[in-house]
Amino acid sequence: MKNIIITGANRGIGLELTKQFSDAHFVYAVCRGEFPSDALNENIKVVSFDLLDEDAIKAFAKTLDDDGVAIDLIINNAGIAGGSDAGVDSNVLLDANTVTTVLATNVTAPMTFTLHLIEALKRSEAPSMIAVSSMMGTHALLDEYNAQWWPYSTSKAALSFAVSAFAINEPTIKSISVHPGWVKTRMGGDGAQMEVADSAKDIKKLYENISELESGKMYSHDGQLMDW
Ligand SMILES: NC(=O)c1ccc[n+]([C@@H]2O[C@H](COP(=O)([O-])OP(=O)(O)OC[C@H]3O[C@@H](n4cnc5c(N)ncnc54)[C@H](OP(=O)(O)O)[C@@H]3O)[C@@H](O)[C@H]2O)c1
Repeated sequence: MKNIIITGANRGIGLELTKQFSDAHFVYAVCRGEFPSDALNENIKVVSFDLLDEDAIKAFAKTLDDDGVAIDLIINNAGIAGGSDAGVDSNVLLDANTVTTVLATNVTAPMTFTLHLIEALKRSEAPSMIAVSSMMGTHALLDEYNAQWWPYSTSKAALSFAVSAFAINEPTIKSISVHPGWVKTRMGGDGAQMEVADSAKDIKKLYENISELESGKMYSHDGQLMDW
């Protein structure tokens, strides 16, 4: 049984990952809102804080350090698209506060979260970090749609880059970024291609085969190396 931290665990891909991993592993479900009570089981510990609150991250890291907990896997899943859940228009995209919040949530938060948890990761014999990025943050797939959502696309490009840098800085921690597919969640919308259970299943499978993957690289949920 591994110890796994999943962020953005209360809904979407994060909730489904929490359900699937908690079948056989212990999951720290990090969320800023309520975790759905019908999804709770004895292998889930809900940890509530906003990932933009660095003091809260430090306090969480301290509890793990004080208890000598080894974390085998962090899945940095939480993210925002920018604007409202209903979508953005070009005026919203030009709002500096929106851009800054997208970058803070999608890049600063997962990387500082991981860095504050580095001692907990290093207590594991085989620590891993998976960052949920997006094909929208790849130069290779840059198109008009991704360009319109440039704060989000830029944040995911930066996240994937930061993961590559982290993999160099911390060679004992297997670290990859993952495109989860276009998934039916609040962010992905009802018209998306993939069911959330299938995306989470694929990401879980990636972790189960992570020894075959190269640290610092970006993979699609189906295991394909991504050109970014
Ligand atoms: N769905 C897709 O098609 C798709 C495609 C490519 C990549 N992704 C990526 O996949 C990841 C999960 O997306 P999703 O589709 O599951 O989105 P979602 O349903 O909108 O869920 C996003 C999750 O992130 C959490 N979150 C956001 N900001 C946070 C903060 N400051 N502190 C703590 N939690 C925060 C949300 O919490 P609240 O409930 O409190 O807001 C929610 O649990 C994201 O990183 C997204 O960019 C998704």
